[in-house]
Amino acid sequence: MRGIVYTGSSAEVTDRLEVASPGPGQVKVKIEAAGVCHSDLSVIDGTIPWKAPSVLGHEGAGVVTEVGEGVRSVKVGDHVVIATLASCGVCRACSTGHPTWCIHTLGNVSTPFTYDGQPASNFAAASVFAEYTVVQEVQAVPIDPDVPFTSACLIGCGVLTGVGAVLNRARVAAGDTAAVFGVGGVGLNVIQGLRLCAASRIVAVDTVAAKETLARQFGATHFVDASSVDAAKEIRAIVPHGPRSVAGALGPGGVKWSFDCVGHPAVLRSALDALDWGGTAVAIGIPPRGAEVAVDVNSLAYVDRGLIGCRYGSARPHQDIPLMVELYRQGRLMLDELVTATAPLEGFRDIVEAMHEGKLARGVLNIAGS
Ligand SMILES: NC(=O)c1ccc[n+]([C@@H]2O[C@H](COP(=O)([O-])OP(=O)(O)OC[C@H]3O[C@@H](n4cnc5c(N)ncnc54)[C@H](O)[C@@H]3O)[C@@H](O)[C@H]2O)c1
Ligand SMILES: [Zn+2]
Ligand SMILES: [Zn+2]
Repeated sequence: MRGIVYTGSSAEVTDRLEVASPGPGQVKVKIEAAGVCHSDLSVIDGTIPWKAPSVLGHEGAGVVTEVGEGVRSVKVGDHVVIATLASCGVCRACSTGHPTWCIHTLGNVSTPFTYDGQPASNFAAASVFAEYTVVQEVQAVPIDPDVPFTSACLIGCGVLTGVGAVLNRARVAAGDTAAVFGVGGVGLNVIQGLRLCAASRIVAVDTVAAKETLARQFGATHFVDASSVDAAKEIRAIVPHGPRSVAGALGPGGVKWSFDCVGHPAVLRSALDALDWGGTAVAIGIPPRGAEVAVDVNSLAYVDRGLIGCRYGSARPHQDIPLMVELYRQGRLMLDELVTATAPLEGFRDIVEAMHEGKLARGVLNIAGS
């Protein structure tokens, strides 16, 4: 079987993979398409430490080809989006509608693959850069068969993460103001989530000036090129508090919400500096382990500013994936437009290079067509 393996130092396209048959409660999926998320690149460059060898990819969609004993919610032939949360379904977190807090979903590594005959791990409980994968039943979420796989796959991470951060975690209200740092696959979905919520101003920030066109296409009302200006200062000028301003850390002006979709402490600090009184910064980007951000505590404590994290859009996949499909059908959520490059498995390096150059919304691997 063909796929992309993380060897410990690089990612290799190989045809020397095998995958196990689904065990009880598991499902085998033929992957049709898979989006390349920055978290895959972060495994390769060591930002996210992961076991090797392992099969990369965690944003995928495909067709169920085999089900293990006891599987009832999907059947052979169903089209599915793969959720990365192998949640247990019975713990307190799962029972209260917070599968992203389920302890079984973190560091959940198993070895359904072999690479050159040796056990190989999965990544993010998904491993969709392969012709077939095996996941838990709860992770295979059925979708209508007429949604193109190249668009559907993006729901599996970038869309849920971005739109979910706005709808589920921040719960942005109509009229709120917001800044989005990083106009990539995640940031664009935060932007369109904000548009869905009728945010009044959506300021997109990126260090690649050419991202302005994409940002505005997805709903940004303003764009700041952070390669040439102090982004927080610029945002405060775009969204001023009013004529009576206070200087310094307590100064009002800026946005109600800011979203770090980059994963760098300096960006998160900038996202905090862009907040108005009562504003909250949402950390979505994943920096290297141990990364810290320094903040004047009084700038938070005196004026109700806050900092929260958001994993996987605080998603409840069986609720949110069908919701994303429904919004797409209604023309309120753009999925097709996110796909700005497609390639066979062999084209993985080209997509990675284009991502590093900031050229893509999302690059998608056409696994079945490879
Ligand atoms: N919390 C989660 O559950 C979750 C889920 C998915 C992805 N992520 C993380 O989110 C981050 C973004 O992922 P992605 O797939 O959208 O990445 P991407 O590569 O598609 O986009 C990143 C964007 O950030 C821009 N950028 C880089 N440095 C910048 C800076 N200093 N200021 C402003 N913009 C800058 C790039 O030009 C690019 O447009 C990554 O850290 C990824 O690991 C987190
Ligand atoms: Zn991802
Ligand atoms: Zn659980």
